[in-house]
Amino acid sequence: FALALFTGDLDGLEVVVSTGGTREPIDPVRYIGNRSSGRQGAEVAVAAAARGAHVRLVAAHVDGGVLDEASRHPRIEVTRVGTAAELGAAVTSSAGDADVVVMVAAVADYRVAEVSDSKLSKEDGPLQSIALVQNDDILAGLVASRRAGQTVVGFAAETATDGAELLARARRKRQRKGVDLLALNEVGWSAGFEASDNHIVVIGSDDEVAAEASGTKREVADALWDAVLAVRDAPA
Ligand code: CTP
Ligand code: CA
Repeated sequence: FALALFTGDLDGLEVVVSTGGTREPIDPVRYIGNRSSGRQGAEVAVAAAARGAHVRLVAAHVDGGVLDEASRHPRIEVTRVGTAAELGAAVTSSAGDADVVVMVAAVADYRVAEVSDSKLSKEDGPLQSIALVQNDDILAGLVASRRAGQTVVGFAAETATDGAELLARARRKRQRKGVDLLALNEVGWSAGFEASDNHIVVIGSDDEVAAEASGTKREVADALWDAVLAVRDAPA
């Protein structure tokens, strides 16, 4: 009965979240991947569901246990994908009727031009290089085809030596992508990926800092949803 009476500030909202790192096959046993743990995106999904949203979580490769809470949540549907192309297809097909789309996934920028059907072997001679082709920009496609009233949010993990350069890069990226909000998080060899705490700066469509949050990835996720609500409540 308590559940039936549940109302959160994201009640009735239809949300799509992507998370994890895509993997681009080289041959049947090897791939090009990245260090994304998927934890921040999973927390974005869980935070939204806890506040009443219905969430479709599209997850590429994630660290062990990262999807446990999301998978148990009655308002979260988890879809697993591997490559950037698979992630793009899953997110794009879910985005049609979504109110908010949040792309947290670390999407491979390139895929292998010719994936080998058999395991590459040194017997075939030394491998000099692997030819790559660029993957489609999923986020840019979402923005281009978004329906009226839909809020699109991107994430950017950046390395930089100083804060001003980091912000400038994030502003350029937000403009290039055309997203309503871009959450910037600084990464280095140790920060950001496996850590349970995170720090984000959220850039709005006026290029101002819309929000800033530090804390657990769940706290950061809640701060992001506050910023999304502020954008959606603001008069157009
Ligand atoms: N993204 C995407 N499709 C891609 C690459 C990235 O949708 N092919 C999304 C990510 O999920 C993220 C945002 O775009 O939300 C920013 O990703 P990022 O890698 O920082 O941006 P890029 O445009 O790929 O720029 P860069 O060359 O700096 O990697
Ligand atoms: Ca990229």
